[in-house]
Order: sequence, then C-alpha cells, then structure tokens
Amino acid sequence: MINDKLPKIWYGGDYNPEQWDAPVWAEDERMFKLAGIDVATINVFSWALIQPSEDTYDFSGLDALMDRLYKNGTYVCLATATGAHPAWMAHRYPEVTRVDVQGRKRKFGGRHNSNPNSEVYRKFATKLAGKLAERYKDHPALVAWHISNEFGGYDYSEQSEAAFRVWLQKRYSTLDNLNRAWNTSFWGHTFYDWEEIVLPSELSEEWNGNRTNFQGISLDFRRFMSDSLLECYKLEYNAIKEHSTNVPITTNLMGFYPELDYFEWAKYMDVISWDNYPALDTPVSFTAMTHDLMRGLKNGQPFMLMEQTPSQQNWMPYNSLKRPGVMRLWSYQAVARGADTVMFFQLRRSIGACEKYHGAVIEHVGHEHTRVFREVAQLGKELEQLGDTLLDARSAAQIGIVYDWQNRWAVELSSGPSVALNYVNEIHKYYDALYQQNIEADMIGIEEDLSKYKIVIAPVMYMVRPGFAEKVEAFVKAGGTFITTFFSGIVNENDLVTVGGYPGELRKVLGIWAEEIDALLPEMSNEIVMNGTWGRLGGVYKCNMLCDLIHAEGAEVLAQYGSDFYKGMPVLTANSFGEGKAYYIASSPEAAFLRDFLATVSEEQGIQPLVAAPEGIESVQRVKNGVPYLFLLNHQPEDLKAEIGAAERVDLLTGQTFSGTAVVPGRGLLILTEKN
Ligand code: GLA
Repeated sequence: MINDKLPKIWYGGDYNPEQWDAPVWAEDERMFKLAGIDVATINVFSWALIQPSEDTYDFSGLDALMDRLYKNGTYVCLATATGAHPAWMAHRYPEVTRVDVQGRKRKFGGRHNSNPNSEVYRKFATKLAGKLAERYKDHPALVAWHISNEFGGYDYSEQSEAAFRVWLQKRYSTLDNLNRAWNTSFWGHTFYDWEEIVLPSELSEEWNGNRTNFQGISLDFRRFMSDSLLECYKLEYNAIKEHSTNVPITTNLMGFYPELDYFEWAKYMDVISWDNYPALDTPVSFTAMTHDLMRGLKNGQPFMLMEQTPSQQNWMPYNSLKRPGVMRLWSYQAVARGADTVMFFQLRRSIGACEKYHGAVIEHVGHEHTRVFREVAQLGKELEQLGDTLLDARSAAQIGIVYDWQNRWAVELSSGPSVALNYVNEIHKYYDALYQQNIEADMIGIEEDLSKYKIVIAPVMYMVRPGFAEKVEAFVKAGGTFITTFFSGIVNENDLVTVGGYPGELRKVLGIWAEEIDALLPEMSNEIVMNGTWGRLGGVYKCNMLCDLIHAEGAEVLAQYGSDFYKGMPVLTANSFGEGKAYYIASSPEAAFLRDFLATVSEEQGIQPLVAAPEGIESVQRVKNGVPYLFLLNHQPEDLKAEIGAAERVDLLTGQTFSGTAVVPGRGLLILTEKN
C-alpha cells in the first residue's frame, strides 16, 4: 500500500489554489467532496511564493492550505516546488538558467528550466526540500512527497561541461580508456587532456536532435544528463528522508520519455508515478504498454497515476475531448495495469497563461453541472466502493518484453542503416500482437530476473550491455524461450561493434550469424516464406524495413526470404540451447506474422489467452493473495461479448454474475473475480 493512511485507490490531482482568491477555496472544497476527491497534489510550482527572496521563506499560505485540506478530508501529495526556479534567483544567479543545444544562454522563463549542474540551484532546491520535510513531516494530511515536476531536458552550460569531465573521469579513469571507448582515432579526435573534451552540442558533434558524429560521446552525454538530473532528485530525496522517513517519495515520470533512463531513476523512488496524456488517436495498446513499463520499473510494484486530464490537453496540435465514458475507462485501464491512484491535472482550470484551455475537474463555469464533473463524481463513487480490494494486486504475466533506454539512445543515435527504424514502435508491434490476442506481458528492463518468465522478447537488442548475453544464455539453458530480431547484438555499451559476426554476444545462443544488413526503401518489402506449417504459422507473410542476411550455424531454419538476391536465406530461425529455445526474426514482419508466431510460441509454452474476445476488448489481470481480478475493458462505443469460460464470476462494480459469455458495455468495463 502506498500509504496506509488512505487504504483505497487515491483520487484527486494537481491543485493550484494560489491562482485564486480565498472565496473560491470553499467552493473547491465543497466540490472535492461531491466528486469523492481525497488527495490534492499541491505546491508544484510555488517556489516563488514560499521563498520570496534568498533569505526569506513564507510558509503561512501553505500551512493554512494543508490544514484546510485536512479539515475537509483531503490528503496531500506535497510537491517540493523545485520544478521552476523563482525570477529573483535567475536574476541574482544567472548560472541557474540553462544553456541550450545551440549554445544560447537562457534567461528567466518557462519551467523545468534549472541547470542541473548549477551548485546554486542544487543548494537552494535541497534546502527547500529539507525545510518542507522538517515542517510538514508530521502533518496529518501528508500522504506522499512529490519531488520537483517532470524532470527532463538537457543543459549545455559551462557547469555541465565541467561536470561531464568529472563524470567521464569516474567512468573511464584514463584518457586511454576513453579514447578507445569513443573510438577517437576516427576523424582525428584523440584527446590528450580532459579539458579538451566538450559537450556534444550543435556547436560540436550533434545536429537535428539525434544526429551525431560520435555515438560514443553522445551516448555518454545522455547517460551523464540522466545522472545529473537524477542527482538533483537524490539531493532532495535525501534532504526529505532526513526528517520524514515513513512517507513515500516520488517524482512524476512521463512514460517512454526519451531523455532519462527511468530504470536507473526507479532505484531511488519509493513509488513510481507517471503522467498519462494519450491523444484521441493514440492506440490504446500503446497506453497499455506504457502503464506496463511504468509498473515494470520497480519489478511490478503498483504505481501512481499522478496526472491525466479529465477531458482535454492544451499542448497538443489537436486537443480533442475525451468522449463520454473514456475518462472512466482509461482510469480503469491504469488501475488494471497496476495503478493504485487515479489523479488529474488539474482540479480547477486556471484562467490565465498557457494552461487555461487544459481540462479540469472544475471547469471555468465554476459549478458541478457539467459533463466532466458528473463523470468525475461517478468514478469517485466507484473508487470509494472498491475500497482496498485491488490495492497491491500484481501482474502474473509469463512473458516479459525487454525495453532498455540506453539501447534506445544507441539505436536513435545510429547513423544508418535506416531512418525508418523506431525502437519503441518495434517493441510496440510485439506488445500489440500479444495484446490483441489477450495474452498478458510485462515490460521489463535488462536487470530484471528473467527466470520468472517462460518467454522473454527483446526486439532490436542492438546494444548488448555487460552481463545481458550471459543472462539470456542462462535463461534459455534452463528452459526459457528467447526471441530477438534483426539489428541485435551489434554493439557493446560504448556503441563499439562486437567483431566476429553479428549478433555478437548473442550469436551462440541464437545459433546464427548475420553477414549483411539490407535497408529497404519505404515502398519495398520482402516475404517470409514458411518451410511448411508450424502451429498457426504457414504460407507467406510480408516483411520490410531491414533484412539481415543470416546463416544458420546450428539453428533450425523455419522460414526463408521469398525474393531479392537473398531469396532462400533464413529469415526465421529457432535454436535449441540447453533446455530452451532462442528465435531470431531477421526482418520487420507484418502484424499477421507476429500474431501467428507469438500465438504459436505461447501455446507451445502453455500460455493461454485470458479470454476469447473481439478487437476492442482489452483484457488484463491483477492478482492479490492468489485471487485474480480480470479486467475487461471495452474501447468501442458498442457493447461487445467476451468468452470468459465456464466458472462463475462476479463483477466488482455491479455485483452482476457471469459465466460463459460476458457482455462488456460500450466504453465500459467489468472487473470479474471468483464467486465465493
Ligand atoms: C504535465 C505537468 C503539469 C501540466 C500538465 C498539462 O504533466 O506535470 O504541470 O503542465 O502536463 O498536461
């Protein structure tokens, strides 16, 4: 349980009463009650208010707010306010502002704007976090700490450059090691003094975001920046823990946000929280995958849905409304996938600046007679009714899909072989193929214990970091099924090619080697021609984008290319290794292939779909004390039927019982559990 003070699914969100005058606050409190809201995230952007100058702190407003909320029955997720520095700080200490990738020194403005390697920023932020912890540690309203806000962005200041050199010295000890790791004999880049090293910006090695001359340098810069921001988080974390030991600490993450290695961050977070902002056309399976990734950051521990909009965003090109029922449905999607909170940005809609068109529980009209408020209040009642039933329930998936931020950086920084390759999309294809067949999967990092899974899928495992290949070998030897794809096993953690034949360190377990990699033009494709039938697989499927030209060296060839000069070469192989099997898919296949392939491999491993259901139904299960809770979410507007098996089950929300066929209402859901 996140905090046993509040033993239910938390319901609330970001609340900014400082933007309003006192008479409005009473109205807020009345409406929170009406909506069943029991947690407010406060103080997120209040640094300038609570520290009006270098030597003055003023907590009177915050004291009163904490007390008022508590009296109203609303608990507090207390932010440290360090996500945007005050103007006085930037004015007096210009080093706290960032320098951008083009070398431009920023002035005061915006948010998420502090130079993470500024000692001044770090000192002020840490001090503030400590003061807040000391003051509010025993406040009865406090249920969680929220450090800063959506950490992110890179900085190219002198301070960061100096810190980068120190970071590199720790990592490489000698310049000799560094020169080798970065392959600096290329283009005459040999460094003879640490001071010669500069950040990879548009003034040096990079252009257009992810284009770089030196992958090794750019990769280390990304690691360094993720660590720099993490260091800021850790300083605040430790300052809080000095006073407040029992209240969980989090910071709000952003799903697949590219810039930070969240698996590293998760090690220092008591509970994961994240902000979920899908667009009208984001595939629901992509959102599902993102929830699963957030759950996977801490080995399946339940997470907080920290923010979502009740209705619409403001920062997208097209800020469509969530259709009636969708806010509720997507809230339950989060719960189904491991969230123990449902929280919004924002509780009351602001009237000025750039977020005034962002949806809120309380709209500009100011009263409760709105579609959005009615939907919010209905969900509030349901969450109240669910009590603690689902808290702490876990996933019991038997398939793990590997996602690695550092591999992603390396793939995205890669110059060639194809601009069409998108690591996250490639992972999503595999995830989606399972999702569409109602087969559960966890999203996992490379440090996860693989032995709890029957099948581990690692699409585009381009970079094999130390220890991963051995781990995969041990997993397969012991009977596991490993699946990987084209463009895997190519480089080590420094983006240096493992010579002696791709897929390098994974070659032994896969029993193949790849000689060349062909990049197809967007309009081109090749074929996967099955050698006979195997399970659901048979006939011919399409593939495109990249084609590895592979040779079997021990692996069985299950399919071969159907055209081009490499027609007849293997495209799908299976290698028996110890008690298990390792599959290699040498190209990017069409969805039908992945559907049939993953169904076949799952069946072989005795992994069954949760239900039989048409497209539009999402099924997922959480298990608590051995009791499964099966969520059936219907993403279509019309009712759909799912076959759930003969056992009688009861819906937690309505008490209705089902066996055989269950009708899932359009844009609605069932949470089915055993009937006792
Ligand atoms: C983020 C931030 C919030 C708010 C919302 C708007 O998630 O954390 O402060 O800006 O976006 O969608």
